[in-house]
Amino acid sequence: MTKQRKGIILAGGTGTRLFPVTLGISKQLVPVYDKPMIYYPLSVLMLSGIKEILIITTPVDHAQFVRVLGDGSQWGISLQFAIQETPDGLPQAYLIGEQFLDGAPSALILGDNIFYGNGLVELLKNADGHALGVTVFGYRVRDPERYGVFGFDDHGKVVSIVEKPSKPGSNYAITGLYFADETAPDRSRDIRPSARGELEITSLLNSYLEEGVLNVELMGRGFSWLDTGTHASLLNASNFVKTMTERQGLQVGSPDEVAFHQNWISREDLLRRAKKFDKNYYGKYLKQIAQG
Ligand code: G1P
Repeated sequence: MTKQRKGIILAGGTGTRLFPVTLGISKQLVPVYDKPMIYYPLSVLMLSGIKEILIITTPVDHAQFVRVLGDGSQWGISLQFAIQETPDGLPQAYLIGEQFLDGAPSALILGDNIFYGNGLVELLKNADGHALGVTVFGYRVRDPERYGVFGFDDHGKVVSIVEKPSKPGSNYAITGLYFADETAPDRSRDIRPSARGELEITSLLNSYLEEGVLNVELMGRGFSWLDTGTHASLLNASNFVKTMTERQGLQVGSPDEVAFHQNWISREDLLRRAKKFDKNYYGKYLKQIAQG
């Protein structure tokens, strides 16, 4: 029987593109409006029903992540931490996380990827339902050359996956969320570094593609996949969250709310969390949903 899927958040890297902001703090801990960035990918894993999560950080940022997130018990989940000594590529997450996964399938999400949209839960549930191979998500962007990119044949079937191509095969970027079966660590071990000296996630995905077990879900117009890679896009992401929060009166990327809706914490637990933040709107919001 296949084991319960586990989650990995890769939050390493030096965030050089956001210097000097990230000279003293990990990129994945900088605020996106009212929450640390990592709250957003964490909420996505929790929305997928995943309760056991490994967070991979740089050696220097480790302590701060532990301080921000703790052991996860406040959300009824279990958080563990591991260190990536040097940022040598995404598939390294599967090697660092191999013991943690212990033969379970996984959902790997990059700590700077923010998803929002109607139908996200169904999309995640579908991906979780695929026991064999890997499920990846495609999102239309104006500048695909900055990402891993899909190439399609005339029937809309994926035939190629290329990392940061100078001539992209389509406008569909591969987002940083990967639902993989239990073979991902073994496959990652076989990957050789690319010309830029990194293990590329696209190499791992190609190994699945070649075997015909790569499943693609396209995220349509109703979805937002926000970029946080530059100062301007980070501010745009903050403004997006602020707009949604103020306009709809609903939170984006709140692990507290997800935990409560998943019934992983009680009303009293949520009220305790709300009290911690009672000087701001986030705390008031949590109090409101706790009181139904
Ligand atoms: C990484 C992956 C790329 C993917 C992107 C999504 O790129 O290598 O395939 O499209 O994440 O965020 P990076 O952000 O490390 O340049």
